[in-house]
Amino acid sequence: STNHITYNYERIEKIARFLASRTTIKPKLGIICGSGLNGITSQMKDGQIIKYKEIPDFPQSTVAGHDGVLVFGLLNSVPTVAMKGRFHSYEGHAPEKCALPVRVMKLLGVEVLIVTNAAGGLNPDYNAGDIMIIKDHISLPGLSGDSPLKGHNDERWGPRFPALNRAYDVNLIKKFENCARQLNLSEGLRKGVYFMVSGPAYETVAECRLMQLLGADAVGMSTTHEVTVAVHCGLKVLGLSLVTNKTVMDWDCVDTPNHTEVLEVAAKRAGDMELLINHFVSTIFNS
Ligand code: HPA
Repeated sequence: STNHITYNYERIEKIARFLASRTTIKPKLGIICGSGLNGITSQMKDGQIIKYKEIPDFPQSTVAGHDGVLVFGLLNSVPTVAMKGRFHSYEGHAPEKCALPVRVMKLLGVEVLIVTNAAGGLNPDYNAGDIMIIKDHISLPGLSGDSPLKGHNDERWGPRFPALNRAYDVNLIKKFENCARQLNLSEGLRKGVYFMVSGPAYETVAECRLMQLLGADAVGMSTTHEVTVAVHCGLKVLGLSLVTNKTVMDWDCVDTPNHTEVLEVAAKRAGDMELLINHFVSTIFNS
């Protein structure tokens, strides 16, 4: 376990140096792949794969649908590093460890981060298979004392009190929406608020109702720690949720969300997600 490790600046620098010595790619773009959304990495040319196990002090990922490798390569000729397999709170990782790879990416030269996830649809208008651009988030763990920025602040990353009101870059959102129009994939494209829970249990009916009442459109168990740290260290962020299920809002409903269903729906729409990301990447870097 890596739970005893303090991820201070020097240790993260060491990880970044190790990775830089193992790849010829100098990434400008970082991608964190959500459950079942790893496929984009197969479109990266000259792919160089580094297993988390080989990286000194790197955490391990333990979830089905999450591989545990970094892929360096060219996505539409943009130098990219992608994480297949992220770190979640429910695996026992501290928030700053969930977000550690983002700081590693920053030191490798990444400027833009695309974060994807699978999420439950709280908004009654949402359907399984919808893709939601994240316009904002509610981090319940963050609000209640489990922020990845808790503790000593190293100014080399960013300020003690960073602003998160513009965490999800409006320009990137506009460009992504344009890409969707150009590819004829605007149908089922949503824009909403992502609510982060620690999991791993899916939510109770009362919890789903609460989150809806609080203004959330989708719920998931990742992303906000990574985004908080990304904004803190000056990365531009685009967040995408693939709605894999509608959350259960009625006490008499007998449906139950499950990870298999999440992966199945993700698999069905992963291709569209990849098309969108691919096109988006070329519009932001190649023009
Ligand atoms: N709840 C939380 N996380 C999720 C869900 C959900 O319904 N679906 C996919 N990830």
